[in-house]
Amino acid sequence: MILPIYIYGHPILRKIAKNIDSANYPNLKELIDNMYETMYNAEGVGLAGPQIGLEDRIFVVDLEPLADDEHPEFKGFKKVFINAEITERTGDLELIEEGCLSIPGVHEKVPREERIRIKYLDENGQAHDEEYVGYMARVIQHEYDHLDGMMFTDRISPLRKRMIKSKLANMEKGKVNCHYRIKTV
Ligand code: NI
Repeated sequence: MILPIYIYGHPILRKIAKNIDSANYPNLKELIDNMYETMYNAEGVGLAGPQIGLEDRIFVVDLEPLADDEHPEFKGFKKVFINAEITERTGDLELIEEGCLSIPGVHEKVPREERIRIKYLDENGQAHDEEYVGYMARVIQHEYDHLDGMMFTDRISPLRKRMIKSKLANMEKGKVNCHYRIKTV
């Protein structure tokens, strides 16, 4: 089922999400299926719980659509991260453009560390402790931010923030155009 994606300005996007009891979470598989379906429908590569109105620490990513000869590592990179904890962020800060399904039509360069280490549970309750680098580390950090009530626009330069101020103000008032199902304030 395609769920509405909550748009910038909705208070749920600013809450700190909570860890879940994945073994006893009602209909976890169905939730994950719905998150993927919602994400694919909106042509995104990641989606976090708060973006569909949940205060739960869960996000999904799928970089497969971006896999090509230059980036074979994206092939099959489809993962569910439950109760994730980033334990290390290392390497240089890289400035790369990002977008977000909750902020349609806005793309800005965001500084992020190039390498992370993350602990999480997968959809089967299996624990993982892994390192990611480059774009994979970036997408994970972006989704992880959503769990802490952060949006990528919080991390951009003051100048760029001023440039997109009116766009964000419109979103906060529910004035937004996009091709997928959304929920505004
Ligand atoms: Ni996002």
